[in-house]
Amino acid sequence: MSSASPTTQPEVSVPAAAAGGGRPRVLSGIQPTADSFHFGNYLGALRQWVDLQIDYQPFFFIADMHAITVDYDPLVLRERTLRAAAQLLAMGVDPERASIFVQSQVPAHAQGAWVLQCLTGVGEARRMTQFKDKSAKGGEGSASVGLLTYPILQAADILLYRPYYVPVGADQRQHLELTRDLAQRFNSRYKKTFRLPEPYILKATGKIGDLQEPTAKMSKSASSPSGIIEMLDEPTLSAKKIRSAVTDSGSEIRFDPEEKPGVSNLLTIYSALTQRSVPDLEEEYTGKGYGDFKKDLAEVVIDFVTPFRDRTLELLADQAYLSEILRQGRERANEVAEATLRDVYQRVGFVAADLGKGPASIG
Ligand code: TYM
Repeated sequence: MSSASPTTQPEVSVPAAAAGGGRPRVLSGIQPTADSFHFGNYLGALRQWVDLQIDYQPFFFIADMHAITVDYDPLVLRERTLRAAAQLLAMGVDPERASIFVQSQVPAHAQGAWVLQCLTGVGEARRMTQFKDKSAKGGEGSASVGLLTYPILQAADILLYRPYYVPVGADQRQHLELTRDLAQRFNSRYKKTFRLPEPYILKATGKIGDLQEPTAKMSKSASSPSGIIEMLDEPTLSAKKIRSAVTDSGSEIRFDPEEKPGVSNLLTIYSALTQRSVPDLEEEYTGKGYGDFKKDLAEVVIDFVTPFRDRTLELLADQAYLSEILRQGRERANEVAEATLRDVYQRVGFVAADLGKGPASIG
């Protein structure tokens, strides 16, 4: 459904970079801008976080600094940050394997972003689609400078960890392109410091559509409540949303994103949740109507979200455990990010605060 992606990686193999060293890294982030993750987040990105943690060394974070680039409520932000951590654990991110951390607790992200901002043109930042979209509402003049520099902070988030892959949905492709451009610019202006990361975007689920407006992406800021399946909704509510999802004219259950965007989106979700292929599902529903199809998918959704929701609520009741996981994640993240930042500072000509500590070796 997403545009053709060179980065579709249904089968994961450990790149040669792993040979001789530790596992290559993967890194990604999610903003704590809603009470619950939604199916677009999960199928587009988070499920791949869980899959990749087997062969890669994962760094996954909650992008609270990105969340303050638009209007927000501090109390709600704090609550959502913890909810995000609980949801990551509930969906299977393993804290033994992965460093799970909060972005604002690793100061190197902001420090690295400053250096990258000094390599970015104002015009280049203003041309980013997300800035144009988000600032269009109130006019560019009232958008925050943070919104303008948002993708540059994202580039720092990524580059500091020298990851091999960045698992995200298709809407992040442009940010990944900027990240690679900035890495290349820094490497050629100074010295090879950053690895050029590959976006890891699955073709099948890179863009999950809104249930009511399937050609638009499911989105926490743009979708109506009935267009979005929240992972922490009451399961019966999610089932109801599936049953009232728009379907297309005709009655055939066929994957055809052009002619049948509604049914195709539901087939994508069905297939992703059951690991059954789309042709297999098409065959099963030959001769059956949209009603049967949606009723079955609603059951599948209930079976999927119920244990997830229970586990998240259980984790949220244990704040001591959550903060211990975030403390461990922060320590590991700080170690890696600070080492890269030392290289960066040395290369741009900053005098080391601790002259005894030389730059880290370049990986
Ligand atoms: P965010 O918080 O908007 O979304 C988190 C992840 O969910 C994906 N996603 C979708 N995928 C498929 N279909 C959809 N309808 C859908 N909606 C959301 C997003 O692509 C994303 O992967 N800028 C990032 C956060 C970020 C980040 C980073 C990501 C900050 N720093 C560094 C990677 C690396 C964002 O807004 O994600």
